[in-house]
Amino acid sequence: MSDFFSPFWTFFISVGTLGGIAWMVYLLIVNSKTKSPANGESVQSTGHEWDGIEELNNPLPFWWVAMFYITIFFGVIYLILFPGLGVAKGALGWSSSEAHSQEVAKANQKYEPLYEKYAALSIPELAENEAAKRTGGRLFATYCSTCHGSDARGARGFPNLTDHDWLYGGSADQIKTTLLTGRQGNMPAWQTSLGDEGVNDVTSYVLNLSGREAPAEEIIAGEKIFTSMCAACHQADGTGMQALGAPNLTDDIWLYGASRGHIQKTIAEGRKGIMPAHEELLGEKKVHILAAYVYSLSQN
Ligand code: HEC
Ligand code: HEC
Repeated sequence: MSDFFSPFWTFFISVGTLGGIAWMVYLLIVNSKTKSPANGESVQSTGHEWDGIEELNNPLPFWWVAMFYITIFFGVIYLILFPGLGVAKGALGWSSSEAHSQEVAKANQKYEPLYEKYAALSIPELAENEAAKRTGGRLFATYCSTCHGSDARGARGFPNLTDHDWLYGGSADQIKTTLLTGRQGNMPAWQTSLGDEGVNDVTSYVLNLSGREAPAEEIIAGEKIFTSMCAACHQADGTGMQALGAPNLTDDIWLYGASRGHIQKTIAEGRKGIMPAHEELLGEKKVHILAAYVYSLSQN
């Protein structure tokens, strides 16, 4: 894929590069006209003089001019062979992404026997295997830490993977399914249907579910709303439903922030957290090792 969105940039880069080279050649030729003085003659002055120091018009040293021409020659050959002028591919057809996929293929070939060996073990067995966990940790650092943090403790909107609180379930199979197919949370927005007061009341009820303080009359009003609007996904007792990724609201662990303001915002505006699918990107065997690594994080 090309990074150039418009043909203008190819034109701009090509003209700049080739024009620059042509300009260098021109300067070299013009400045090579000065000849060395014949025997007996003295070097001519350019006529510039500062405090008695005169600028002499000596020819450019041969070695220096030669190096310059070699550099230009190298540059031109390089531009013919490799991609250097906008979208031009270069005679060798080399591309950095091609080189990268070749390296990946080589690495996959090298590690294939190892992945093969791990694929034969169950996830709980692998989670006990120190070498497999180290491999999993490296894969995690590469593919998962951008979102879940290098310590897997997550951040707002990105779940902590080291605790016992699971949106989609913490069994070996559930974790593996999460990684393979991805997950998409769907918490609807309630501002329009409940209005300010309704959102406020049900927020108080949700806070109360996890043992936090809220005005009693709001809790009572909020409970009615919760039973009719929220229980379908979060269950009547608020403990959530893993099949839908609806979080447990009674444990005082908050994916989207623990303050009343954050919780109210979630209820008013809704949330749609996306865990991307990794089956195509990584293949089943790497996911198997990663699942074991994640599984191991919340054991003991
Ligand atoms: C682009 C960001 C992103 C990347 C990359 C990512 N995740 Fe996630 N992951 C999320 C989000 C967001 C959620 C929560 C989805 C939701 O809110 O429903 C999630 C959820 C999960 C869950 C479910 C947690 C639970 O409580 O059930 C697991 C397990 C998980 N990720 C593991 C991984 C692993 C392992 C990787 C690397 C292969 C990874 N994730 C890569 C964003 C990401
Ligand atoms: C269609 C199912 C569904 C309904 C109905 C629903 N929720 Fe949710 N809720 C979810 C899902 C799924 C999430 C997680 C979203 C995500 O992971 O991005 C969530 C997240 C939340 C959160 C954030 C929890 C956290 O850890 O930060 C709160 C609070 C919440 N819901 C409250 C409510 C309330 C109150 C109602 C009723 C007014 C309600 N939900 C109705 C599915 C639902």
